[in-house]
Amino acid sequence: MPTTRNLFYRWEMTRSSVLLVVGLLAASCTGESEPAATDAAASAPSTSTPTTTTTTTLPTFVAGAAGIGDDYYASLGNGGYDVDHYHLDLAYGDDGSVSATVVVTAAALENLDSFNLDFAGWQVERVEVDGDSSVFERVGEELVVAPVKILAGDVFKVEVDYTGTPEPIVSSAIPFGIGWHAGPEREQFVAAEPDAAHSWFPSNDHPLDKSTFTFAINVPNGLSVAANGELVEVDDGDATTTYHWSMTDPMAPYLATIVIGDGWTFVDDPVSTEAAGIPVSNFLPPDLAADPPAALETTGKMVRVLERAFGPYPFDRYGIAVVGGFPAALENQTLSVFGRTMVESPYFEYVLVHELAHQWFGDSVSVGAWSDIWLNEGFATYAELLWVEELYGPGAYREEVANRIQAATIAGYGPPGTPAPDDLFNASVYQRGSFVLVALRDEVGDDVFFETLRTYAERFSDGNATTEDFISAAEEIAGRDLGDLFSTWLYDEQIPA
Ligand code: TRP
Ligand code: ZN
Repeated sequence: MPTTRNLFYRWEMTRSSVLLVVGLLAASCTGESEPAATDAAASAPSTSTPTTTTTTTLPTFVAGAAGIGDDYYASLGNGGYDVDHYHLDLAYGDDGSVSATVVVTAAALENLDSFNLDFAGWQVERVEVDGDSSVFERVGEELVVAPVKILAGDVFKVEVDYTGTPEPIVSSAIPFGIGWHAGPEREQFVAAEPDAAHSWFPSNDHPLDKSTFTFAINVPNGLSVAANGELVEVDDGDATTTYHWSMTDPMAPYLATIVIGDGWTFVDDPVSTEAAGIPVSNFLPPDLAADPPAALETTGKMVRVLERAFGPYPFDRYGIAVVGGFPAALENQTLSVFGRTMVESPYFEYVLVHELAHQWFGDSVSVGAWSDIWLNEGFATYAELLWVEELYGPGAYREEVANRIQAATIAGYGPPGTPAPDDLFNASVYQRGSFVLVALRDEVGDDVFFETLRTYAERFSDGNATTEDFISAAEEIAGRDLGDLFSTWLYDEQIPA
């Protein structure tokens, strides 16, 4: 049996190599928040002045510019409406340019006389609201649409036409470029966590506003396209092809992705499909399609093992896309993106189970605030430990836990409960985040522990949860107060002995 001893160092190595590669960028990453919306847009709710003497009370309209309220990235997310659906219609050209029409269907939560979408970069050509050309303004990373008159409860459609050449953005949360990347060999892919959805489409860029998605991605013939969900149609044109994808489960904008590759194919994995009971298919470049990495066939077994621990797999299908020139992996909904270096790593299998676990924790149950990111990364890292246990037994699980705790203690990891906004994905969030679950399982025993995980996954599926929500579920199932355990493991400066 291969030793699991040095598993701990995987994320360390991964993290630091990521940081090394992009260390140069970090200097320019000041973490400053973007400018606030215009005074007009951000002004206090305005009361419309009655101009007639009728007794009808005129509705009061407010500007929908207030942020959704994330403590960490205040400018992200917008109040006043709730997006139902995004339709992303993008034409990608061989010169790297994109011409796009995005239709956002939303329901107004208040009477709106303006609203904001988050959107950075690009040339906006035109905005229509319910078919009428509208006045808009770019203010920092806000697309402000005003004036409008939309009544609370009304469903409205915003169509935004824009053009440009996509490129990654510097996020205050993570010290390397995120968003739309150009890889080698004409590859294009999107990896946007936490705050780069609005760098490629106008959106309500906060996990609290989940929506269904459709994609119509037009590319020069020879390129193929994957996105979240299901491939519903391929339209062959003379020189271009349009790929239609559909994500019918609610999805946070940051998990939306497209991957474009030259001659790439979907390689069905019958072994995994059989074991998982859902279609498992990976989007691969020609060399890997001809000879897929053997570990991919364990995906199905991983689905089964995680279903036992977390409950039913939350979506209709799963697969990964393997891209070049990217030293990381990201859990995009139903289609995780893996850098080739991750696939070639001796720890590939553990990254595979980690990203798969995020489909439950991160994608189906999303954070309600970015400060609670341990609910994603701690849980996904815990899945690595479950995989050790599955393969090598309870003794190996204990040994792996002990090794990781020892290494984290020596390294002096601080508390994972509220990482700094510019250090959201630090190693403690992953490692100490997983120790919270180790400690909980030790405290309450296997039955209560796994019932807690399944209850939490089910209760907040297709939605959002907070640390408080998880603690409440754990206390409810255990039937007792667990406040000390959580506060120690989440917030104490030192790792408990
Ligand atoms: N969530 C990723 C993981 O599984 C880490 C991550 C955050 C990331 N933001 C990213 C990876 C952007 C690639 C690109 O650990
Ligand atoms: Zn993760």
